[in-house]
Amino acid sequence: MAKILRGHIVYADTPSSFRVFEGGYLIYDNNRIVSVSQNLPRDYEGLEVEDLGDVLIVPGFYDLHTHGGQYPQCGVGMSHQLLHWLKDYTYTLEMKFEDGNFARRIYTEFANELVKYGTLGAAVFGTTSLRGTDILFQEFINRGLRGYIGKVCMECCAPDFITKDHVTNIGDVIELENKYSHQKMVKSIVTPRFAPTSTAESLEELGRIAQAYNLAVQSHLDENVDEIEWVHELYGPDAYAKVYDNYGLYGQQPTLMAHGIYLTDEEVALTRDRGVILVHCPDSNLNLGSGIMPVRKYLSLGITVALGTDIAGGHKISMAEALVRCIQLSKLVSMEQPEYKSLSFCEAYYMGTVVGGSFFGLVGKLEKDYQMDCLVIDDPDLYKELYSLEDRLEKFVYTGDDRWISRRYIAGKQV
Ligand code: GUN
Ligand code: FE
Repeated sequence: MAKILRGHIVYADTPSSFRVFEGGYLIYDNNRIVSVSQNLPRDYEGLEVEDLGDVLIVPGFYDLHTHGGQYPQCGVGMSHQLLHWLKDYTYTLEMKFEDGNFARRIYTEFANELVKYGTLGAAVFGTTSLRGTDILFQEFINRGLRGYIGKVCMECCAPDFITKDHVTNIGDVIELENKYSHQKMVKSIVTPRFAPTSTAESLEELGRIAQAYNLAVQSHLDENVDEIEWVHELYGPDAYAKVYDNYGLYGQQPTLMAHGIYLTDEEVALTRDRGVILVHCPDSNLNLGSGIMPVRKYLSLGITVALGTDIAGGHKISMAEALVRCIQLSKLVSMEQPEYKSLSFCEAYYMGTVVGGSFFGLVGKLEKDYQMDCLVIDDPDLYKELYSLEDRLEKFVYTGDDRWISRRYIAGKQV
């Protein structure tokens, strides 16, 4: 039976426009929105309306790049650049996820925090541990969270305690896919950590599996200058993205590439033509001194850009933080290069809700036929008095926290 919520409905319709229904009606049936309107449609008269009062009903956030297996490391080792940070901190932490109790403890907390801060779906790296990543799937399923969850594959160029041979890695990926392929809200995603820690054999097999099992792909790309140099030492002068592309891991299936700060012209064209989604992780790029993604330039060249927290390169699990930092960094770019206009709040909000949500299907807008995913924002009374609905949304993103989120719905279920 259809259910009806009433409140101020606000979402990004396009990168430059909000749709607003002041005191509007959101009607959903099961997991799907069936109507959003200013006045209650005739067909639904007589049904009970749950009037939430002076609140905002808005989409949730979708984090398209994060590492569940790094959650405890947020804010640690932030004086290092990428390759040292991985070697000195990350690998030793990720190894601990072979211990099921440890994995359960961390992934419980990680999933709870995602929900708490309004992230309703995420593309997540687990670790190289089969057992640990299995637990990550369970924690998402238990909460009804939307997830693309990847067992990290690494075969070389890292300490022995964290690498596995490619036969084991491929076997693990297939085992998880077989176990969870019937699930609606979570899906496996093929996850080579990044080209330097993969062998050519493994990339070839992972590309084959992605096609054979119809799986999405995620990895890292062009994040850090030393990383790129290392890729050239290992794989020759071909562009970094070509390494993935050569093995069917660059847009042959839906593909997420985190960072992509230093794309060459050739990589820009390939990324756009293949429909690869670049995931901008602004906090991580600052913390690890990686660089600044030229988001405006990429958008103007037709590349799709989503947002991610990149826990624990990024130190905050809240996507609101990623939106704000994305806008701030774009202003820094614009100060140096005025031809690149900074990003508006609406553009960043669109990236964090609509672009991110689109990876999960019809998700991220509050429109007929979209999935019934939303947050109810009950902001302090003073701001309700002072500001417009759009200003109140911006204020929530900039200064609000989990206490402002009074409800979270995923696929029509309150979580
Ligand atoms: N490149 C390879 N692995 C990682 C990781 O764990 N985090 C980040 N930010 N970049 C990576
Ligand atoms: Fe990452």
